[in-house]
Amino acid sequence: MNASHLRAKVWRGTENGDFVTYDVPRNESQTVLDVVTYIQRHLDSTLSYRFSCRVGMCGSCAMNVNGIARWTCRTHVSKVLKGDVLEIAPLSNLPVIKDLATDMKVFFDKWARAMGQFHGSKTRHDEFALVDPASKERVAAADGTECIGCGVCYSSCDVVTWLPDFLGPAALNRSWTLMNDIRDVKHAERLEVVAGDAGCHSCHTQGSCTERCPKHIAPSFSIAGLKQLTVTEAIWGKKS
Ligand code: FES
Repeated sequence: MNASHLRAKVWRGTENGDFVTYDVPRNESQTVLDVVTYIQRHLDSTLSYRFSCRVGMCGSCAMNVNGIARWTCRTHVSKVLKGDVLEIAPLSNLPVIKDLATDMKVFFDKWARAMGQFHGSKTRHDEFALVDPASKERVAAADGTECIGCGVCYSSCDVVTWLPDFLGPAALNRSWTLMNDIRDVKHAERLEVVAGDAGCHSCHTQGSCTERCPKHIAPSFSIAGLKQLTVTEAIWGKKS
């Protein structure tokens, strides 16, 4: 092996698969997604993986790269290469469909369980709701709306590994975003859901989600907000 090539150890198969090593040419500004794409186009067309936008917008390209979950389209090889080896595996905490493609159903089902859908009171015939961009609630909600649903935080969360029913950082972050949306009318129901056994109080605040989120969102902060809200409302009741 020389410096013009790297060794990509890529997970092949399902849960009981194994790593297969490929010799891939190095290129300037090469991303991990470029490496995977090269393998599929030039070395083994049966390799399964997922991507769409290639510019950090869709969230579909996340994988474990040398043991850490990352968005591969925005991860340069030069930043993560160990020696000449790149180990590429599917996201953790999710079932593997094949090779690098994971089944995201459980991840998005948890968004639904955490009441991640907006519930407003207006109809299309009403005036647009005005939300002051400088308001505390708007600022708190705005951070969470940047989430692209890549699953990096979910894959990095040890609590999800220990407690598979845990809603996880992305779903709880979404829930917190809606709790701060003054147009939403289901705050009480949502808070009841996230206060349960699989909800915010199961988080140990290890912070891997916040450390690894490629969009620099802080799910730990969102979960702390939910914890505080559930305790405040349990003691004082809902503010009118
Ligand atoms: Fe869309 Fe990477 S391919 S975020």
